[in-house]
Amino acid sequence: MDIAETIDQARQTTAAARRAGRTVGLVPTMGALHEGHLSLIRRCRSECDLTAVSLFVNPTQFAPGEDFDRYPRSFAADRDACAALGVDLLFAPSAGQMYPGDLLTWVHVNRITDHLCGATRPGFFDGVCTVVAKLFHIIQPDRAYFGEKDAQQLAVVTRMVADLDFPVEIRACPIVRDADGLALSSRNRYLDLAQRRSAVCLSRALEQARRLVAAGQTEATALIETIRTAIAREPQARIDYISIVEKEFFQPVTVIEAPCLIALAVYFGTARLIDNITVDPSNQRP
Ligand code: PAF
Repeated sequence: MDIAETIDQARQTTAAARRAGRTVGLVPTMGALHEGHLSLIRRCRSECDLTAVSLFVNPTQFAPGEDFDRYPRSFAADRDACAALGVDLLFAPSAGQMYPGDLLTWVHVNRITDHLCGATRPGFFDGVCTVVAKLFHIIQPDRAYFGEKDAQQLAVVTRMVADLDFPVEIRACPIVRDADGLALSSRNRYLDLAQRRSAVCLSRALEQARRLVAAGQTEATALIETIRTAIAREPQARIDYISIVEKEFFQPVTVIEAPCLIALAVYFGTARLIDNITVDPSNQRP
């Protein structure tokens, strides 16, 4: 496995692959790899000739006071996991390499970023889009792999690629969950034992909402209230948002008439966890 710390090194490896007629896949990550990331890497390996993984804790997507400084960093374990999976290129640049001076150019996607994480983490998606655009320019992948746990990020990046004509296919990969249902996240490492036990309420509340939709409940307020009540039973949980949105522009709906996303963000201590499910009213039980 090649490890590139500079943009030039990464470009040389991927350019050589392209010249040789090989397809290039990119899995962008911030490291602290877990089974969710590994599933993206495996999918990339199965679909592309060269698999590149970027490992960069991107400062521009963290607001002051968020967890940039203490975001888990585990380079040696991540490198070993990538090597074991047969990754060809690990791109692990420094902040100075990615942002050598003041950044005067940003990528902003409108509308899809109005609600959910776009509303409660202002500037977050500008940081994500800008770094993903830079990674796409550096690696020039044919395909890039993103997890559905970050459903809004996936929609925003997909739109950026379409609007700015990036020659890259975005591949969406399903959420990977622990046995009890908790969605895997690098931030789960922040949870103490009691918080980890409580955090299972997120996927359970979403499942409860899915069952209600299947039974005919389509009123967003009622569904959100059910989820809120279930989560509020956990004393450690502090709700950031619970929202039901349509899946194109991520705008809130009052009645579920087509497949919609139920998305939430909840703090347990200082760990802010997100999760979501898609509900489809046409899957109602007769
Ligand atoms: O999902 C993430 O880990 C990050 O937002 C990403 C896409 C790697 C950009 O920094």
